[in-house]
Amino acid sequence: MQSNSIQIHPVGGAVGAEIVGVDLSEPLTTTVRDTIRHTLADRGVVFFRDQSLTPEQHIGLARQFGDININRFFTHAEGYPEIALVVKEPHQTRNIGGGWHTDHSYDQIPALGSILYAREVPPTGGDTLFSGMYAAYDALSDGLKRTLSSLRGVHSSRHVFGVARPDMQDRYRNPEAAVQDAVHPAVITHPESGRKALYVNPGFTLRFDGWTSEESRPLLDYLYRHAVKPEFGCRFVWRNGSIAFWDNRSTWHYAVNDYQGERRLMHRITVEGCELAG
Ligand code: SIN
Repeated sequence: MQSNSIQIHPVGGAVGAEIVGVDLSEPLTTTVRDTIRHTLADRGVVFFRDQSLTPEQHIGLARQFGDININRFFTHAEGYPEIALVVKEPHQTRNIGGGWHTDHSYDQIPALGSILYAREVPPTGGDTLFSGMYAAYDALSDGLKRTLSSLRGVHSSRHVFGVARPDMQDRYRNPEAAVQDAVHPAVITHPESGRKALYVNPGFTLRFDGWTSEESRPLLDYLYRHAVKPEFGCRFVWRNGSIAFWDNRSTWHYAVNDYQGERRLMHRITVEGCELAG
């Protein structure tokens, strides 16, 4: 696909952009790859429609943005450890990612983001919500920004992947591998855009470093309510062949679980990132 046919259409006011005119099954030109990268850094999540990728092409696409993180906890597509299965079968009631979170904040070097490819979506429902952490940070008062500038969040994988989850045992594995704890600035400077982003999340942040859980709770709860104001977010309605590529450093996401009795099958590849600074 020619780089001069690429078009970018912002989706929400603060976050999200649909990119059209790109066939992701082909190797990207440097111009197209850089355009996707810059749009991702700016808008937090980019969407593509009507893509047709083999597992090899999905892997090839991800490698153009960095090394691939082999997920420790999710089952993977047969023969492709790089591809984590984000699946919910008709008889299953819990979904994966059904709460606000940003992936891998429990790692000392958190992943850049994920490329989620829709293989089988329910007739209705199963949307994904995104919230933009640049906008969430920008909207805070100067006083709270000053307080947060000296705080660091303690993140962990243990309480999510390390505990017995009978309801998720056919989709999560290796609970003994959930030993990751990490401390990151509560506000990071995004490594590519240079913008400030709120970097605590309800899924994996336990408390502020040097504070007890009890002391941390009221401020974290305030930030969690604030960060999902509708004006910071957007909603993506999937079709088979849709792709969302999100940046974990500047967005949260939430997989809506409103399609009981239907199947939803997504292939997710996660791209490695870098250490985060305030
Ligand atoms: C995830 O949290 O990685 C899954 C998101 C989704 O399935 O929409």
